[in-house]
Amino acid sequence: VRLLLVSGSTRRGSTNGAALRAAQELVPPGTETVLHDRLGELPQFDPDADHEPLPPLVTELRAEIARADAVLFCTPEYAGTLPGSFKNTIDWLVGSGELYRTPAAWINVGNPGRGAGAEAALATVLGYVDADVVQQACVRIPVGRDAVGPDGTVEDADVRARLASVLGAVAEHVRSLTDRP
Ligand SMILES: Cc1cc2nc3c(=O)[nH]c(=O)nc-3n(C[C@H](O)[C@H](O)[C@H](O)COP(=O)(O)O)c2cc1C
Repeated sequence: VRLLLVSGSTRRGSTNGAALRAAQELVPPGTETVLHDRLGELPQFDPDADHEPLPPLVTELRAEIARADAVLFCTPEYAGTLPGSFKNTIDWLVGSGELYRTPAAWINVGNPGRGAGAEAALATVLGYVDADVVQQACVRIPVGRDAVGPDGTVEDADVRARLASVLGAVAEHVRSLTDRP
């Protein structure tokens, strides 16, 4: 099972990025992860530019999603919704369709009670592109800034156990699709 991990934060010391780096250390057997962390380098989406030759990073992003069995998003909330650079990434995938029927889930690492706007926006955009949202893997796992270690990951045992359980749920969902007769 190949999981693509996408952080919605471009910030150094990001809690969202740290959660995904920790997740990379916690994959169940038979699962591999790729972290897409070049959100901030993608050009601004423009329908007039959405044709060959595409910006190389757009081609790379689309290929990464097409290769992935599932995508796990972890994004902060900005101004009650998704960060612009994250939404820009999704916009590059609307017409090309790589997320269509692709299993997808998100983790909200915001403080308790925060991030509901980002969750609602994720549900909207992933519904719009007809992704296969794995509801049981869409969870809140608060990660404070002080939980991010010097290596940019998270050591907290409870957080790590919950991340491992999300990865397990996504991998199990992917397998349930391929095991179908
Ligand atoms: C421009 C901006 C807007 C923000 N808007 C919200 C918001 O609407 N709701 C919220 O809970 N936090 C908001 N925050 C706080 C971020 O969610 C918080 O800083 C989070 O840690 C960022 O994730 P990161 O650590 O991965 O960069 C905002 C932060 C910034 C920089």
